Amino acid sequence: MRLENKIAVVTGASSGIGIEFSKKLAAKGALVYGLARRLNKLQEIQNEIGSTFIPVEMDITKYVDIQEWVNKTFSDNHLPHILINNAGLGYFGNVENLSVDDWNTMINTNLNGVFYLTREIVPLMKKNEDHCHIINIASVAGLLGNPQISGYNATKFGLRGFSEALFKELRYNAIKVSTMFPGSIATHFFDNAEGSDTHANMLQPSDVADTLIHLLETPDNFLINEITLRPLNPKDPEDL
Ligand SMILES: NC(=O)c1ccc[n+]([C@@H]2O[C@H](COP(=O)([O-])OP(=O)(O)OC[C@H]3O[C@@H](n4cnc5c(N)ncnc54)[C@H](OP(=O)(O)O)[C@@H]3O)[C@@H](O)[C@H]2O)c1
Repeated sequence: MRLENKIAVVTGASSGIGIEFSKKLAAKGALVYGLARRLNKLQEIQNEIGSTFIPVEMDITKYVDIQEWVNKTFSDNHLPHILINNAGLGYFGNVENLSVDDWNTMINTNLNGVFYLTREIVPLMKKNEDHCHIINIASVAGLLGNPQISGYNATKFGLRGFSEALFKELRYNAIKVSTMFPGSIATHFFDNAEGSDTHANMLQPSDVADTLIHLLETPDNFLINEITLRPLNPKDPEDL
């Protein structure tokens, strides 16, 4: 896909890799709707990127709000080409210490939110005469279970299943579906996790965003449906 003048929706655009995805898409000439709950952060990003980044205050766990926004934003003359389901969060701890609220927040954000937005965007992509692309941001935690991340694992394994089914469901509608499985990235993601600070050997958001752009720019009949990204050496340089 050529990204110039394409219309993209990026969730979780107020932080981390969502900011880098938005910047690189806008630099390629796409119009980017950046969704997140913190409007002030989105506005700061618009100040940096310019008017091709449109801040949208949205809690993706609210289905009715998503429906209303999609209905008022898109029309037959203004159809989305790209959906990046990126917003997500993790709460960690032994299963008996993981609160029911934290479990529900992960399911509502990492799975339900993805479904709500995808459900509204896919019919518009089917109307779009251009090729379209949905990219879901999972994690290596969608491939490997590990102690203390059971709830997060459940959401990201679930996202993998959703994505694989969608890829097979939508391929004949000229809609690509890809899933990215990154290892640790230096973002605010770990702010919730005690004792785990970001460091220089983690994946860098800008490099992850370069890979996203590569997935999008592949030729129309060429799909990378899953891709795993890892730091070669994941250890904190201070500990080496
Ligand atoms: N960092 C890592 O090591 C890593 C590794 C693999 C995969 N991932 C995945 O990458 C994605 C992005 O994470 P990140 O590392 O960039 O973390 P981040 O810096 O914490 O960003 C998370 C983003 O999700 C948004 N968000 C959370 N709940 C939301 C909701 N209910 N509605 C709308 N937006 C919501 C946040 O925006 P607001 O707070 O403004 O709403 C924020 O923009 C996540 O899906 C995460 O699971 C991260």
